[in-house]
Amino acid sequence: MRTTLLLLSSLAAGAPIAAALQHVNYGAFTQTATYSIANQLGFFTAYGLNVTYLQVPNSTYGYATLLNGGYDIMTGTIDNAVNLRFNSNQSLTVTGQLDQAPELTIASIPNITRVDQLKGFSLMVDSPVSGYAFILRKVLSRYGLYLENGDYTFRVVGSTVIRYADLVAGSLPNGTAVYATILTYPFTSEARDAYEPQRPIILASVADFIQPFTSSAFTVRESALQNTTSRALIRTFKAAMYAANQYLATPTRQGCSIEAIKNQLNVSITVAKSAYLAATNPLTGETSSPGGNFTMNRQGLLNVIDVRSQFRGFELVPADFNFNEAIVPGVGKLIDYSVRDEALAATVRYSPATSGC
Ligand SMILES: *[C@@H]1O[C@H](CO)[C@@H](O)[C@H](O)[C@H]1NC(C)=O
Ligand SMILES: *[C@@H]1O[C@H](CO)[C@@H](O)[C@H](O)[C@H]1NC(C)=O
Ligand SMILES: *[C@@H]1O[C@H](CO)[C@@H](O)[C@H](O)[C@H]1NC(C)=O
Ligand SMILES: *[C@@H]1O[C@H](CO)[C@@H](O)[C@H](O)[C@H]1NC(C)=O
Ligand SMILES: *[C@@H]1O[C@H](CO)[C@@H](O)[C@H](O)[C@H]1NC(C)=O
Ligand SMILES: *[C@@H]1O[C@H](CO)[C@@H](O)[C@H](O)[C@H]1NC(C)=O
Ligand SMILES: *[C@@H]1O[C@H](CO)[C@@H](O)[C@H](O)[C@H]1NC(C)=O
Ligand SMILES: *[C@@H]1O[C@H](CO)[C@@H](O)[C@H](O)[C@H]1NC(C)=O
Repeated sequence: MRTTLLLLSSLAAGAPIAAALQHVNYGAFTQTATYSIANQLGFFTAYGLNVTYLQVPNSTYGYATLLNGGYDIMTGTIDNAVNLRFNSNQSLTVTGQLDQAPELTIASIPNITRVDQLKGFSLMVDSPVSGYAFILRKVLSRYGLYLENGDYTFRVVGSTVIRYADLVAGSLPNGTAVYATILTYPFTSEARDAYEPQRPIILASVADFIQPFTSSAFTVRESALQNTTSRALIRTFKAAMYAANQYLATPTRQGCSIEAIKNQLNVSITVAKSAYLAATNPLTGETSSPGGNFTMNRQGLLNVIDVRSQFRGFELVPADFNFNEAIVPGVGKLIDYSVRDEALAATVRYSPATSGC
């Protein structure tokens, strides 16, 4: 399969088969299933790419790095792009949706078993004004707990990778006790299978409160789309990710997809199977995009905006700002599908009939 894909993609791209691989700096918060498949099953290489996965430590650093050219492309929850673009006029553009927040949950240390028991404690977040902090406030408000009333506080810790490690440890590296946080794919699956005495409790699933909810999105510097070289790199990266996403969406490829997830994350087969189910969940997973082609779920994006609005998250936006107009896709807008459309045209669709991984 790898050989066939390589040959076809090279022909499709009109590139010499033995050309040197192009380097891509990819910033991401988590190793998604689509990325795992692309990386483990040779999709990046087949598309002529050498992708360096750069773990985003926190959203503030991550988006600053994207804007200063440290990442060629990034996947992060779209709320960050909405915030930076509408509040701060930052030239970020989203070129497509990757997921609708698979296994987005609130998780706690083992002795806290109900959401209302979070009263009086601090909750770990990436940033109090970005990412999932507003979601946390929304869900907790349904249990009568309000940040503004002092029912709980936020402790700024970093992205999910760091928060998960701290939650399982029960403390920050300096020994400060931690109580709960938001978890995303694949950490909810990992939490469920964690070593018993430290196994986190999954208190609530965000999808039970807000649905649909657009989350991970391919995000780039707007200027990169005007630069021929950068644009070509983004297009090729998206083509490889699209091919991997199609593979993920193919039920007969389940075994190979689970194996790719397992190897990429270095987790047990139990966790990999659970992560696969999350990644292919039709409502929240990486295969939930309308059309299966990285198109944004419009209602999912409106829900992101609604939740942020509810907690005064658009304080720098003029009162008469037209959100409806601002989310219409187009060149120079928040959402620009043009490079996605080019990528889809350049993608060699994987044939499910081929045997082997
Ligand atoms: C990818 O890039 C890294 C770092 O530049 C390099 O060490 C590695 O050999 C490259 N891999 C391939 C397959 O070219
Ligand atoms: C974000 O990450 C950067 C780079 O690792 C670090 O210097 C900074 O202190 C972090 N910020 C927060 C709020 O954790
Ligand atoms: C936003 O940035 C663009 C250039 O990127 C500029 O033309 C525009 O005036 C800015 N708007 C505001 C409100 O600062
Ligand atoms: C859970 O343990 C923490 C100390 O680690 C304690 O402060 C808290 O009261 C406990 N919560 C419950 C519900 O027992
Ligand atoms: C431990 O680290 C956290 C996060 O960096 C910090 O807020 C807190 O003050 C530190 N606590 C101690 C006792 O050093
Ligand atoms: C376009 O991007 C490439 C690669 O990042 C860079 O080397 C080049 O200077 C850029 N060109 C312009 C006109 O900005
Ligand atoms: C994979 O996980 C195992 C145990 O869970 C650990 O011993 C090993 O070092 C990990 N391998 C890598 C490459 O991280
Ligand atoms: C992607 O899917 C959407 C929704 O089904 C559809 O309207 C659009 O034409 C598709 N675009 C491409 C480039 O395939």
